Amino acid sequence: MLGNTFGRVFQVTTCGESYGWHATAEKSGYGGALFTIVNGVPPGIKLDVAEIQRELDKRRPGQSKLDSPRLETDRVEVVSGWFEGVTTGAPVGLLIRNVDTQDIHIQQYREVKDVIRPAHAEVNFFYRYGEYGDWCGAGRASGRETVGRVAAGAIAKQILAREGIEVLAHVIESHGIKGRSVSEGTMTFEEMKTNYRKNDLNCCDLEAARKMIADLLEVREAGDTAGGEVEIVARGVPAGLGEPVFDKLKATIAHALFSVGAIMSLEFGAGRKTAEALGSEWNDQPFVQGGKVRWRTNHAGGFLGGMTTGEDLLMRAAIKPTPTISKDQDTVDMMTLEAKKLAAITRRDISLLPRWYPVAEAMVAICIVDALFMARGWYGMCKELDPKWQKLTEPRHKGEYTK
Ligand SMILES: Cc1cc2nc3c(=O)[nH]c(=O)nc-3n(C[C@H](O)[C@H](O)[C@H](O)COP(=O)(O)O)c2cc1C
Repeated sequence: MLGNTFGRVFQVTTCGESYGWHATAEKSGYGGALFTIVNGVPPGIKLDVAEIQRELDKRRPGQSKLDSPRLETDRVEVVSGWFEGVTTGAPVGLLIRNVDTQDIHIQQYREVKDVIRPAHAEVNFFYRYGEYGDWCGAGRASGRETVGRVAAGAIAKQILAREGIEVLAHVIESHGIKGRSVSEGTMTFEEMKTNYRKNDLNCCDLEAARKMIADLLEVREAGDTAGGEVEIVARGVPAGLGEPVFDKLKATIAHALFSVGAIMSLEFGAGRKTAEALGSEWNDQPFVQGGKVRWRTNHAGGFLGGMTTGEDLLMRAAIKPTPTISKDQDTVDMMTLEAKKLAAITRRDISLLPRWYPVAEAMVAICIVDALFMARGWYGMCKELDPKWQKLTEPRHKGEYTK
């Protein structure tokens, strides 16, 4: 399997499957683990493992009626790259074991392993890896794969915190019920922060959250699942991050978020509504505040020319309903090509939204740290070659000419 590494300087490599299950003569079965290697962590960072754990706890299953009842502890072990609590500059290895891998659940997957599960990825795994593929709990296509991303993202967030950069995500729509959002200007970032994780769905519009949760409990009773939308906001990101051509920060973030299972669309700033706008309505207009260029609106979502403007980065991702549902669906047996009916009995999330937002935060944090490395590396070199460099890249007052 190729493509298990993301990032250019701050590089994250993950491995691990949903169960990673093995049976031996001595033991009926035991689970594997998720393992992440983070390259490029600067030396001398006091790693807060409790904070990494808190990030992992956000996406841990089994916390509410909306989540899969799978009871994983998601305990993180930092196995390399630090010494006496401080990073050494060597790759940081993070290990999280799969612990809730009981025989009864393995058996449930074994019984349907040849039957295509609608909206699941196994059929394509079969085309690609044949009968060698891991059929248990969707193997590497499982949402469990995202544990490693959250662990790496937690390190990225610790670096960003030192830079005064915050990345937060919350639910803004579930099954057609809409909540207020920062990107639409109907919620402030401060309100988002105050109401962050105040309910099982992590919808910061508390009124809308009540309706969404009541609706999802009905969806659950009906044996169904529902889709929705997650908003991600990054505040404090300095202007000028990202590269202007193939590595536009918007493109890197799109790559990062589209690599997470179940995403179906991504918008930046005004997003889809851009299609209805006139230039006179859409263009963000600059003004000066405290000697800095600011923007009166943020339809561009914090990006221009692939680089950050210094305003909030605003993103919205539409997430599909959880593929596993209890209702009968038409399908096909991959081995016999016979038509089949399938109503799943395996454990699943009713809504992916409360599990998805921590992964989105992690991926955006990883992108920003990586972009900081790229930009600072570039600036460092430029400043060495031209002592006037810093001055040349600052917006100037009238009459001040530095060249
Ligand atoms: C955090 C997370 C949790 C997930 N939980 C489930 C689940 O419980 N049941 C399920 O059927 N799919 C779940 N998925 C979705 C599948 O991973 C994904 O839809 C599937 O692999 C197909 O990939 P695609 O939707 O990106 O094409 C989850 C995804 C994520 C990111």
